[in-house]
Amino acid sequence: MADKLAHLGYAIGVYKKLVPAIIIIISLLSSSSIMSVVAWGSSLEGSRVGIQTTPPLPVLPLPSYSQLKWQQREIIMFLHFGVNTYTDSEWGTGQEDPNIFNPTGFNANQWAATAEASGISLMILTAKHHDGFCLWPSKYTEHSVKSSLAWRGGAGDVVKDFVAAATSRGIDAGLYLSPWDRNDKRYGRDLDYNEYYLAQLQELLTQYGGGMREIWFDGAKGANATNMTYYFDDWFGMVKALQSSINVFSDAGPDVRWVGNENGFAGSTCWATINRTSLSIGNTSNLQYLNAGDPRGTDYIPAECDVSIRSGWFWHKSESPKKLTELLNIYYLSVGRNCVLLLNVPPNKTGLISPADVRTLMQFRSAIDTIFSFNLAAGCLVRASSQRGHNFGPENVLDGDHLWTYWAPASSKDIDEEGINNNGGGGGGKDQDRLRRVVNPSRRRPRNDWIEIRASTDDRLIRFNVVRIQEAVGLGQRIKRHRVYVDGKLVAKGTTVGYKRLHRISSRMVQGSVVRIRVLDSRDLPLISSIGLHFDPFWAAARPKNQSLHTHDP
Ligand SMILES: *[C@@H]1O[C@H](CO)[C@@H](O)[C@H](O)[C@H]1NC(C)=O
Ligand SMILES: *[C@@H]1O[C@H](CO)[C@@H](O)[C@H](O)[C@H]1NC(C)=O
Ligand SMILES: *[C@@H]1O[C@H](CO)[C@@H](O)[C@H](O)[C@H]1NC(C)=O
Ligand SMILES: *[C@@H]1O[C@H](CO)[C@@H](O)[C@H](O)[C@H]1NC(C)=O
Ligand SMILES: *[C@@H]1O[C@H](CO)[C@@H](O)[C@H](O)[C@H]1NC(C)=O
Ligand SMILES: *[C@@H]1O[C@H](CO)[C@@H](O)[C@H](O)[C@H]1NC(C)=O
Repeated sequence: MADKLAHLGYAIGVYKKLVPAIIIIISLLSSSSIMSVVAWGSSLEGSRVGIQTTPPLPVLPLPSYSQLKWQQREIIMFLHFGVNTYTDSEWGTGQEDPNIFNPTGFNANQWAATAEASGISLMILTAKHHDGFCLWPSKYTEHSVKSSLAWRGGAGDVVKDFVAAATSRGIDAGLYLSPWDRNDKRYGRDLDYNEYYLAQLQELLTQYGGGMREIWFDGAKGANATNMTYYFDDWFGMVKALQSSINVFSDAGPDVRWVGNENGFAGSTCWATINRTSLSIGNTSNLQYLNAGDPRGTDYIPAECDVSIRSGWFWHKSESPKKLTELLNIYYLSVGRNCVLLLNVPPNKTGLISPADVRTLMQFRSAIDTIFSFNLAAGCLVRASSQRGHNFGPENVLDGDHLWTYWAPASSKDIDEEGINNNGGGGGGKDQDRLRRVVNPSRRRPRNDWIEIRASTDDRLIRFNVVRIQEAVGLGQRIKRHRVYVDGKLVAKGTTVGYKRLHRISSRMVQGSVVRIRVLDSRDLPLISSIGLHFDPFWAAARPKNQSLHTHDP
């Protein structure tokens, strides 16, 4: 650790001392080599009857179409609702009287309207929690809304109303079906309970339309609970057969994994890749592995960060929603670390989302829009250490696509054979020799890929406190280590990027004319699909006024 810090200090110090030399190198690069590479590349490609350079090979494993769609949602709403809402508890006993479930003002349209107004495109409902009480009239138990005679005379179906309300607003639906069931007598008898569970899965996945987008298999189970084996392969097999675009969540995937805590925080290193064979559901000894993922993982299973807007999962009169700054912090540490935030918003006893929670969600959405709807890098000049071909230029990081158009540096082969060194043109002679030594003394030298955003005029400064970097994860998650510099000063550093990495700069704001992102280590070529420089006024307000520019390592 001490070594690393010393090394970092050295790197910054040297960087400062070398600024004049580096500027010379940069200006050489820009005037003679890189710019001409770009220009040459473009005109050559353009003249070759429209045939474009191919994308580079993917780095396996890759996300599925459904996983990519899930990742782009960024925030999903979780709704914990059931008998616990009426008993003021978090884990029911299974002995609750179904008649206590009586949501007199239940209206799933209010849930869907709240999600819609919060910019949330998927809602997941606890169809059955550990207490075993079913929010739909299952044919296979009496412990359900069928027995809640006080509510709609036992004819209510929360799942049905929930799916209909979501669908009517173009919001997707998902369900949670607790494996641990404290009510059903079959629990503990492997075959009987697995048949019961599969029968319920069939009901939920055939009676409410074919558009279920996520199913949640919770690994939670009481310490003294009866032992039994869940037939996960049968469960997952049936789910996939019945719903074609669904993502299956569990501690171990197969499509979405748990992040290893219920605080909403991903690891500062967070790979979507992991080895499924090293995971098992309900096993709490690999939380760190779940939190960070595995750069060598053979399965693409991004993490979901579940956390409640209040302290509990179910509604309790005594609790109130988290403050905006806390939610923003969670956003940066989940969405900003390559994960999806699964934010629980519990309906109250009336059957509606409480006004305080609705207000908080509106503030949260409005804050996110305030911060991210304007990219301060828009309209700036953009430049990179090298580029693959005409259609992989650095300008792709500033377009509206955050997935399939990207900057790709030239492959090592291209740099060696026809890149910087051999692209003489101007300069030449001694300077060109020196450049060769500095930039690429041997084929085995590590790559130095960078991309730079530059204010469009010399007197204009870019002022920001958040950096957003996104990889073209459709071709695999790649970046292992990166740094961000403003006018040569290090302002942020990190490891993985993935679908989205957000850095909050530790000072209130930085300003400068050149922002450079360097990729220090990567699985194959780094592919960057989007870069944003943003200003977060909530973050600025929370920082001490006189803090000066320095490095930030979360
Ligand atoms: C589990 O059982 C033990 C012994 O009966 C008891 O002391 C403990 O409180 C129980 N734990 C839970 C979570 O119920
Ligand atoms: C469940 O099985 C484990 C391991 O075999 C054992 O230690 C534990 O006591 C069992 N629990 C119950 C409630 O039977
Ligand atoms: C839990 O995970 C650890 C670490 O991966 C592993 O050694 C252990 O065998 C697992 N336990 C079970 C019951 O699968
Ligand atoms: C994951 O699997 C890959 C490929 O088998 C292996 O190289 C890597 O070491 C594994 N990771 C862990 C943590 O075991
Ligand atoms: C639940 O929320 C609704 C609407 O937001 C509100 O009118 C009602 O009073 C709340 N019920 C309780 C028990 O807090
Ligand atoms: C300003 O900086 C000084 C020195 O770092 C520190 O002692 C002081 O507490 C800071 N003041 C505020 C308001 O943050």
